[in-house]
Amino acid sequence: MAIISSKKQPQEPNRQPKQPREVAKAPPSDSKDNLLQPEAAVDETKQEESIRPQRFADYIGQKDLKDVLDIAIKAAKSRGEVLDHLLLYGPPGLGKTTMAMILASEMGVSCKITSAPALERPRDIVGLLVNLKPGDILFIDEIHRLSRMTEEILYPAMEDYRLDITIGKGSSTKTRSIPLSKFTLVGATTRAGALTSPLRDRFGLIQKLRFYEVDELSKIVLRSAQLLQTNITEDGATEVARRSRGTPRIANRLLKRVRDYAEVKSFNEVNEKVAAEALQLFQVDPCGLDWTDRRMLSVIIEQFNGGPVGLETIAAATGEDTQTIEEVYEPYLMQIGYLSRTTRGRVATPTAYKHLGFKPPNEQLSLLP
Ligand SMILES: Nc1ncnc2c1ncn2[C@@H]1O[C@H](COP(=O)(O)OP(=O)(O)OP(=O)(O)O)[C@@H](O)[C@H]1O
Ligand SMILES: [Mg+2]
Repeated sequence: MAIISSKKQPQEPNRQPKQPREVAKAPPSDSKDNLLQPEAAVDETKQEESIRPQRFADYIGQKDLKDVLDIAIKAAKSRGEVLDHLLLYGPPGLGKTTMAMILASEMGVSCKITSAPALERPRDIVGLLVNLKPGDILFIDEIHRLSRMTEEILYPAMEDYRLDITIGKGSSTKTRSIPLSKFTLVGATTRAGALTSPLRDRFGLIQKLRFYEVDELSKIVLRSAQLLQTNITEDGATEVARRSRGTPRIANRLLKRVRDYAEVKSFNEVNEKVAAEALQLFQVDPCGLDWTDRRMLSVIIEQFNGGPVGLETIAAATGEDTQTIEEVYEPYLMQIGYLSRTTRGRVATPTAYKHLGFKPPNEQLSLLP
């Protein structure tokens, strides 16, 4: 995804913290950027197609989302209606595009895929809308980036399946309405808060995707390994899963690296030991933390006694923008219980201290299990 890029090289922080442990070394040129970033790499989307689940049953995890959609599909089918417009939001790589495609295949309709930056001119969206067949799904990625004109065309299209076209200029302006096929708009975004409220209000279903648990990611790794004809044990899959930042895209990427390692070293199966060895070689942290995560935590711990620290300060110290920190880094660190967000700023938890090899402060020690 273009807007949130964690590919940037971190800048030198203003103040260099003392560096007693392996916490804040600059990332090695290749390992952080390619392996643990949740966005798809340039040539990755195509490779992903071969392992992307095609059916509801193969879509692992996201139980709440699946339950809601299962009911919506059954209800729409039994009434012979189209699915409600659906907004999917959540961090990159969690399965938004995959779910849109699965919905289309479950409903037996086709899915037209586009993204907001490709819909700059009104005619781009008009062209797509008039060509939709009854029940079709129109998938718009990065939907928070739609231009105002495109959004305004979408309002009547979503609400009444109608296209309002203005002809002429000045006093001779006329509006003509063209009926459209009933369709379902599926919007995806990493930033639900950035959607305008008129647009958000027109979605009947708004669903958040959450990070995956290790056992869910293990199942995804086992399924992908089968498709990639890689011999992996359950323990091996769990080892990969643990380091995948709760994100299927990263799990699949790490699996491919582990497979290469096993092949080159002539191991006939990927077990826990082989997976751990390979991922250590690629400098993937046992909890899936990357350079920026570690830097964020070590700044909070070393320079601010564990926090609270403001977002801007963390951004300056890591060279990431505040938005990327809020949307990509913090959600995962909070999910694994390393960071908490308070009104006064971000706080590193005792578990984060331990993981980075620091001694938690006394008052926090008493909170440890
Ligand atoms: N629930 C799942 N079960 C199995 N595999 C999954 C699941 N969700 C995602 N994947 C895998 O992860 C890859 C990335 O998923 P997807 O492209 O749907 O993410 P996304 O949320 O659309 O990401 P982005 O925000 O970058 O567009 C897919 O190719 C798919 O193989
Ligand atoms: Mg996507």
